[in-house]
Amino acid sequence: MSDILVHAEAGVMTITLNRLDRKNSITSDMYAKLADAMGTAQADEGVRVVMIQGHETVFCAGNDIGDFLDKPPAGQDAPVFRFLRAIATFPKPLLAAVCGPAVGIGTTMLLHCDLVYAGDNAAFSMPFVNLGLCPEAASSLLVPQMLGYHRAAEALMLGEPFFAEAALEVGLVNRILPPTEANNYANAQARKLAAKPLASLVETKRLMKKGQQQLVLQQMVDEGEAFGRMLVAPAAKEAFTAFMEKRKPDFSKV
Ligand code: COA
Repeated sequence: MSDILVHAEAGVMTITLNRLDRKNSITSDMYAKLADAMGTAQADEGVRVVMIQGHETVFCAGNDIGDFLDKPPAGQDAPVFRFLRAIATFPKPLLAAVCGPAVGIGTTMLLHCDLVYAGDNAAFSMPFVNLGLCPEAASSLLVPQMLGYHRAAEALMLGEPFFAEAALEVGLVNRILPPTEANNYANAQARKLAAKPLASLVETKRLMKKGQQQLVLQQMVDEGEAFGRMLVAPAAKEAFTAFMEKRKPDFSKV
């Protein structure tokens, strides 16, 4: 079965991350499929709302680390950046249902969703520094805005997980549910939105976002340039190799 499932019904396009044996980590091919699905959803008048979901045990373990080593994203047209721009500029409602680990982009993509529903097992983390990298998806702008500077620094510098209750408190998620119910609940909310006048939804979203849309896109470009440099630098190489070899990284020489 495909690692990205796309299903459209009743005006809702549901995109499912479906690579459970690798904890729904995302390869560059998967980013390309995700970006294409978002493009289709934007263009197709029959799609009024998009929802992204994983499995009740895991949402997404971030970027596939082997892929980072083999196929580091080259330039702003790399599939990962296409996907990030697509979700940052998506004009229609975008929802997510998140259960279990949401690592790296598994958390940062939520910053671009309008509604997020979490299983009570959700664990959010942005361990970019621990991988010798820096934030992406405009998270270096949006996380401080959402969490306040000091909590953002903790989340982005220490990279330790925070859980559903904390995510609810800061407004990263709308509601906490049993993991077995999160996808269905988010789908029901998506259907509610799909029954509303689309032009009003689109205008409401545009007006809420327009103040910093350009800032978000510019931040993504700046982050992308730094991220690209850091991906091939010694600290990231050591972190990725350590992950593949199932050992702790040794940053003492970098
Ligand atoms: N890239 C590639 N493979 C990954 C992966 C990733 N991001 N995340 C998990 N996997 C693989 C593991 O290597 C493991 O492979 P194996 O069966 O060959 O040993 C398999 O998926 C299962 O993962 P495991 O770590 O055993 O599951 P877990 O339930 O104990 O932990 C996570 C789940 C998500 C907490 C943990 O896998 C993890 O921290 N992954 C890395 C996250 C990360 O740093 N992502 C990059 C962010 S930019």
